[in-house]
Amino acid sequence: MSVHKKDIKKITTHQLQEMKNRGEKIAMLTAYDFSMAKILDAAGIDVLLVGDSASNVMAGNETTLPITLDQMIYHATSVVKAVERAFVIVDIPFGSYQGNSSEALRSAIRIMKESGAHAVKMEGGSEIKESVTRILSAGVPVMGHLGLTPQSIFKFGTYTVRAKEEEEANKLLEDAKLLEECGCFSIVLEKIPAHLAKKVAEAVSIPIIGIGAGPDVDGQVLVMQDMLGITKEFKPRFLRRYADLYTSVTDAVSHYIEDVKAKDFPNEEEKY
Ligand code: KIV
Repeated sequence: MSVHKKDIKKITTHQLQEMKNRGEKIAMLTAYDFSMAKILDAAGIDVLLVGDSASNVMAGNETTLPITLDQMIYHATSVVKAVERAFVIVDIPFGSYQGNSSEALRSAIRIMKESGAHAVKMEGGSEIKESVTRILSAGVPVMGHLGLTPQSIFKFGTYTVRAKEEEEANKLLEDAKLLEECGCFSIVLEKIPAHLAKKVAEAVSIPIIGIGAGPDVDGQVLVMQDMLGITKEFKPRFLRRYADLYTSVTDAVSHYIEDVKAKDFPNEEEKY
């Protein structure tokens, strides 16, 4: 159902918290451009994440590491312009917060000032505590990201499920509690066992958003290109496809090519 302008009530961190408190699940998707963000917002999505997955799905890189702060701000600015209701969160990209907390704060402020986004997301737990605290103290809402953290792919060496062993699971739980204590308004848990995600969602009071983290969390996020069936080679177990846009776009483009070649397009009504 589409949302009409006069009914629009913008989503805030406060509302996301209330959704967790009353057991209403939060629906989040990634977005990177104006046209798609407009559709997702009008469809009623609660949260749009300008993810650094833009590095993969928009720029064609193998990892999220190459995307720059300027490029993230470019994507975020386009998304923010399109949105009337959704809460917009932007990933701080690799290399623009790991150095020290001043660098982290500068990056977060650039994102907020230049794009008009509503919050930032950062990967990591205790290692980034100082940066998270400093950004929060500037009044910028921060979402945490634990479990599989793609910015550390070369440390892990693989995109398989994280925190299967007790030691890593315990650290993840402690990191989630720490991020809540610091003041994060929410945390993404990526690709971890469902029982651990449930435990985390019960142990902290802020909303936990899962991707490959099972059903017992407070909301779900997917990469838009994956759930719309654009990235047809990517088939992880956690992904549900809600459309087959790869086939739809291929069919439409083939039809257009046929019409052009057959001199059927444009016709009498389509010319001036
Ligand atoms: O960059 C991204 O798309 C993300 C989601 C997978 C949570 O961080």
